[in-house]
Amino acid sequence: MASVSGGVALSCPSRLSHRSSSSSHRRHVSSSSVKMAVSVDEKKKSFTLRKSEEAFEIAKELMPGGVNSPVRAFKSVGGQPILFDSVKGSHMWDIDGNEYIDYVGSWGPAIIGHADDEVLAALAETMKKGTSFGAPCLLENILAEMVISAVPSIEMVRFVNSGTEACMGMLRLARAFTGKEKIIKFEGCYHGHADPFLVKAGSGVATLGLPDSPGVPRAATFETLTSPFNDLSTVEKLFEANKGEIAAVILEPVVGNSGFIAPKPDFLNALQEITKENGALLVFDEVMTGFRISYGGAQEYFGITPDITTLGKIIGGGLPVGAYGGRREIMELVAPAGPMYQAGTLSGNPLAMTAGIQTLKRLKEPGSYEYLDKITGELIQGILDAGKKAGHAICGGYISGMFGFFFTEGPVYNFGDAKNSDTAKFARFFRGMLEEGVYFAPSQFEAGFTSLAHTPEDIQQTIAAAEKVFRKI
Ligand SMILES: Cc1ncc(COP(=O)(O)O)c(C=O)c1O
Repeated sequence: MASVSGGVALSCPSRLSHRSSSSSHRRHVSSSSVKMAVSVDEKKKSFTLRKSEEAFEIAKELMPGGVNSPVRAFKSVGGQPILFDSVKGSHMWDIDGNEYIDYVGSWGPAIIGHADDEVLAALAETMKKGTSFGAPCLLENILAEMVISAVPSIEMVRFVNSGTEACMGMLRLARAFTGKEKIIKFEGCYHGHADPFLVKAGSGVATLGLPDSPGVPRAATFETLTSPFNDLSTVEKLFEANKGEIAAVILEPVVGNSGFIAPKPDFLNALQEITKENGALLVFDEVMTGFRISYGGAQEYFGITPDITTLGKIIGGGLPVGAYGGRREIMELVAPAGPMYQAGTLSGNPLAMTAGIQTLKRLKEPGSYEYLDKITGELIQGILDAGKKAGHAICGGYISGMFGFFFTEGPVYNFGDAKNSDTAKFARFFRGMLEEGVYFAPSQFEAGFTSLAHTPEDIQQTIAAAEKVFRKI
């Protein structure tokens, strides 16, 4: 763990640092990297997106914007999205036959590598028994026990089908438990697309939220207050101005949805204190950071136990799963144990539970997080060094298998700082890297992800490609 440059200052708890690792990552790597990368120059010669272009023209007629989730559409980097054919380990292959080293990881879930052989085998076994029961099954108990024993704040858990659903349930629960309605969220933090979270977070002093999207009624965001991330004084002012009315402070403990932004030392502690003092709940949205920053998530990493936690992505191992959990006294409000209603036809379905169980089993093996830390540190250091050497203003950082870099001197402590980045330059960098066979998230404001399947060769190849592209942009 480290911050590399540009001032995303991170603390380093010693308790997570020294499990031995080498044999287990060799195993992670060899079991997942089946297809091998071709050299950078071979890729460059053959790079064409003709089939993707044709297919996307058709897709645009069939689906809004040609995609089923907006950021996939490459709007902020120009060009058009690539359609993929297959994934394995740390690599992806598009329908034109181009191969990429992948740092998106399906936006987080692919932490042990794509299409892991053991996950696929377990899924095939489960599938023989059916794909959905709509009734309880033993696999739910197993994944619930794994989540509860890993995540410090979770004594009981409810599985749902996405991070958005988890955040919706969490919000209703926080309001039901406290009997209060207002919430504080942070500018640039994403908590899924439910109405109350779709708030335009203004810079500077906090304001009452305004809907960020047409169709969101003002009433839905009226109780959503916003503050810049890492800005305790605004949070204090909001508590002062809304005495006794705030149900919860909700945040990504390490921001991934504005690019990678770490909390300042003591920011999370201070939020815990202020919520306690004011009878509000502290909620960590760990949909992205859960089982990624460490096995117990950001809360284990920073040693701060929130009241409620949301999870998603990794706990589904690439199938649709979300979850929310917390102390027993809070969770027992959820129906049918209590009166707070929330339900789901496919929730806890056996396939999703199986992929989650297998993924967590692999992550729990000794050395997993040390390996992620090592390769991600090398990657981000290599990228920053190459960028600076080529004369670019660039800063960035990482924790474990999550990283990011901004085309600005930094430091970047919040979304306002991130917006100083040269996004046009990022777009040129992104497209240049694609041609070199490296797939980063198609936005300056998204974190990157590594996996146990990324090899040291992947990292070196990526740095070499970045050196080349930095010289051109
Ligand atoms: C922190 C966080 N919360 C919630 C969500 C919503 O999850 P989903 O896309 O599964 O609905 C995301 C998605 O990226 C996220 O990063």
